[in-house]
Amino acid sequence: MRTRTIRLRPGADLDGFRAAVRRLIRDDVAPDAVTWIAGEAQSLFPEDAPAAGPSPALALPRAVAALVPAVVMHRDPERYGLLHRLVRRVADGERHLAEVASDPLVHRLNLMRKAVASDLHKMHAFLRFRRAGTGEGGAGGRERFAAWFEPEHHILAEAAPFFSARFPSFDWSILTPDGSAHWDGRTLSFGPPGRREDVPEQDAFEAGWTDYYSSTFNPARTNLAAMRAEMPKKYWHNMPETAAIPGLVREAGRRVGEMIERAPEAPVKRVPARALAAMAAQEPASLAALNAVIRASEPLVPGATQAVLGEGPQGAAIAFVGEQPGDQEDLQGRPFVGPAGQLLARALREAGIDRERSYLTNAVKHFKFEARGKRRLHKSPTAGEVAHYRWWLDRELAFVAPRLVVALGATAVLALSGRQIPITRARGPAAFAGKPYGGFITVHPSYLLRLPDEARPEAYEAFVDDLRRAASLAAAPAGAFG
Ligand code: URA
Repeated sequence: MRTRTIRLRPGADLDGFRAAVRRLIRDDVAPDAVTWIAGEAQSLFPEDAPAAGPSPALALPRAVAALVPAVVMHRDPERYGLLHRLVRRVADGERHLAEVASDPLVHRLNLMRKAVASDLHKMHAFLRFRRAGTGEGGAGGRERFAAWFEPEHHILAEAAPFFSARFPSFDWSILTPDGSAHWDGRTLSFGPPGRREDVPEQDAFEAGWTDYYSSTFNPARTNLAAMRAEMPKKYWHNMPETAAIPGLVREAGRRVGEMIERAPEAPVKRVPARALAAMAAQEPASLAALNAVIRASEPLVPGATQAVLGEGPQGAAIAFVGEQPGDQEDLQGRPFVGPAGQLLARALREAGIDRERSYLTNAVKHFKFEARGKRRLHKSPTAGEVAHYRWWLDRELAFVAPRLVVALGATAVLALSGRQIPITRARGPAAFAGKPYGGFITVHPSYLLRLPDEARPEAYEAFVDDLRRAASLAAAPAGAFG
């Protein structure tokens, strides 16, 4: 058997691999006969001369063509050999091989693809720039920022355009142990590896992040396992806000006690506007990142203790959207825990819907009220306030990706459809224009609480019936929403 040794550039050499694999298929070289070398590693065998001239054509099914660029970024030294095996089998007639998830080779490649996708997500979400002075032009020059990051895989070239789109207006460098990326406002370029010491120490901009994180950290929601899964510890040293985490966790018990005791009007520390603007300018890459920005935002109408975020699993089949948090929700920082929430919980149980497996949120994330002595009386949000919070809701539901969204009451309908529609006219299955999920409209549980006693049982039964219909729609096969 004639053997071949092929050297590719260090990292993810997609072009080199494509050119090489085309020749290997044309020359009918078996994968076992090929040694792949990435970068400067020494070879024990004579190497093939680098290919010259155009490489032979090779038409691959779309699923294979999509897998190759992702797997090439994986750090596994076997990546090129595995991909050669895949391409070889496809070229030998297994055209749909990449769709056979149970095939051991495809399974392994899919795991590699997922690991690369998750690494990209982490880099987008957890990279933090530090101020590194001004560029050419002295004090009047453009501000320079630098970041240190250690990706698991060879993703720098793929990840960097995200940052030039997000931060076009300042110069930045991203340094990694494998290479660096640089942006000067016009051009993205790549260079040699960097060192962590080349990135400056914490600056005032970062102090804003730490402040923000401490002030928005909700001790009642401390869940270290979830926090580590969402924000692995490996990245903490790059993220200024995480310096505050051990202390915050230690203090969580005491702070929960204080939060319950605290008078509702106690001032909540808010994020410096500059840090908030920088955070919001990054399109949040995850639900956690979106929630961080919501937590840090000022309520439109002052007075609320905290932002009340949605609750429930991402990927829940059914999501419920209410109006806004009430008094109890505001104090506890959780949606639907007050009287209307308890009524909803009972109706969900009777309709056979598991609250824990559903996603519950509100159109407006802060409590709006009118103070009457010690009491805080709910005030409905205006259409303008609902429109303000729509940015969050749309993104939140995009991350949760439910099959069906149930609008509880007219404010939720306004938030989801942009239109004021009387519930009596629209009650039942609904289509919210441009949304990827099915819709369902019903009354808000607080409406039931306001009814005279004699009218309530019948209205409650109708509400439970609505929830049952919604549950069966959420469980219906794909396409059932038209
Ligand atoms: N009403 C709502 O709309 N949402 C809540 O979270 C509580 C009451």
